[in-house]
Amino acid sequence: MKYSNEISKRRSFAIISHPDAGKTTLTEKLLLFGGAIQTAGAVKSNKIKKHATSDFMEIERQRGISVATSVMSFEYKGILINLLDTPGHKDFAEDTYRTLTAVDSVILVIDSVNGVEAQTRRLMEVCRMRDTPVIVFVNKMDRDGKNRFDLLEEIEKELKLQLHPMTWPINSGKEFKGVYNLDEKSLVLFTANTKGVDEDVVKINDLSDTLLDNKLGERDASILREDVELVDGVHGDLNVADYLAGKVAPVFFGSAVNNFGVKEMLDTFIHIAPTPRSRETTVRTLDVNEDKFSGFIFKIHANLDPKHRDRIAFLRVCSGKFERNKYFHHVRLDKDVRFSNPYTFLARDKDVIEEAYPGDVVGLFDTGNFKIGDTLTEGEDFYFTGIPSFSPEIFKEVVNKDPMKTKQLEKGLLQLTDEGVAQLFTQFGGNKKIIGCVGELQFEVIQYRLLQEYSASVEFRAQAYYKACWITSKDPKKLEDFTRFKSSNIATDKDGHLVYLAQSEWFLNTERTNNPDIEFHFTSEIHKEMV
Ligand code: G4P
Repeated sequence: MKYSNEISKRRSFAIISHPDAGKTTLTEKLLLFGGAIQTAGAVKSNKIKKHATSDFMEIERQRGISVATSVMSFEYKGILINLLDTPGHKDFAEDTYRTLTAVDSVILVIDSVNGVEAQTRRLMEVCRMRDTPVIVFVNKMDRDGKNRFDLLEEIEKELKLQLHPMTWPINSGKEFKGVYNLDEKSLVLFTANTKGVDEDVVKINDLSDTLLDNKLGERDASILREDVELVDGVHGDLNVADYLAGKVAPVFFGSAVNNFGVKEMLDTFIHIAPTPRSRETTVRTLDVNEDKFSGFIFKIHANLDPKHRDRIAFLRVCSGKFERNKYFHHVRLDKDVRFSNPYTFLARDKDVIEEAYPGDVVGLFDTGNFKIGDTLTEGEDFYFTGIPSFSPEIFKEVVNKDPMKTKQLEKGLLQLTDEGVAQLFTQFGGNKKIIGCVGELQFEVIQYRLLQEYSASVEFRAQAYYKACWITSKDPKKLEDFTRFKSSNIATDKDGHLVYLAQSEWFLNTERTNNPDIEFHFTSEIHKEMV
């Protein structure tokens, strides 16, 4: 319990959204409140612009920028907030999924005009796997969006999330007048305001107060009264325990670009968002209050300069105190390692740090010792669970164009897949190497990096697979038979685990029906549990 003070001060979270919903804008406003930046426009957009989809060099450059803004730490009202950034581009969705394993809660931004979009759905699925607490921010209320009730219903239905409005909007678009804070019973009036942090707040004792009519006009005041009666009647007070269990999501309405409604959300966030939580490992539940240090690597970022092969591994501290120059146990390699220049991320700069506590993220220079999911401890052997690989969506065979460089190619493929750029499968009983990615763009990045960093020249040959499923069975004989009969569809992943590559959903369902003793898993998580 030595560090309970430090732990209670910390909140680590990520903002997730479909591209263009307003994640970057909201991030900037939060940093303004935290005093981490002084002017709007100071945050370099970490998103990869739509028009850049064919220009992967530009994307890599932007990914380079994104290292500095990968984690933004700032203080607000005595609370130390670690905001972990996630790439907006869908082709880097795996990166985002993994970042979500390193946070304790998320803020989900929804565009009030577009409602729930594809990326929102997928990100929420990942949050649900871990029961991550979610706060929803409905953005762009200054635009003519969907009807407020319809929108909430859509979010609830599409994301299978029970919502709890904390503020309530008065109109939208040009008519947008502000929000009513259901908890504090105050009216926050909207003014387009991109810089300041002051809001025009009117305290109302009772909804029947004529001040409401004065401020909003009779028509809007009476609509608000009706709305609030309805909303309060349905929802009552927020049950914080249900929020922390990932069952109920508080909702705020606002306009990030106008810095409106953000403060209400941030104030609630520091009040209810979870402090760093205890975590499951392959051996036992790790209590966040344990004195001994532990942490795991959730992201690896390559150095873009080909002359420097070093990488940055991002470590999330889960218990105890991380210290500079202290030896820690690298569980997978079974060796002790120490770091002379670990750094932390303070909004603008990277700073070398002496110590870090649960909830913090530390950047470690890595010369190839780490892969995603690696655990550091003070001696105990375990891995953190809940850091799965998901099935890729596009599969391509790697064709080596220069047989003289086979060794370099193999090394490059292993290192790139350790970084989590892609997943590598090797044909069962053969040599064929298949790369699986979430987006087309990653193939371009891989081809480019193999050539630049490993002098290996490759081409890709499309493979008509639909999903990779990790297969296990309680009966080793059955697994062996299945592997033999279906050998053309079987591969091993990088760690030697068996994978079934299904051509289509139909094939997958057929195999599942025909082979009840074989279990098909959509994530690699199962193997962590078996360590
Ligand atoms: P992202 O990180 O989720 O991809 O979104 P980002 O914050 O970059 O916002 C996407 C666009 O939406 C930006 O406009 C941004 O200014 C705008 N935006 C954000 N919040 C609001 C809001 O509350 N109301 C309105 N009307 N617009 C908002 P852009 O034209 O793409 O870029 P920019 O040139 O303005 O930076």
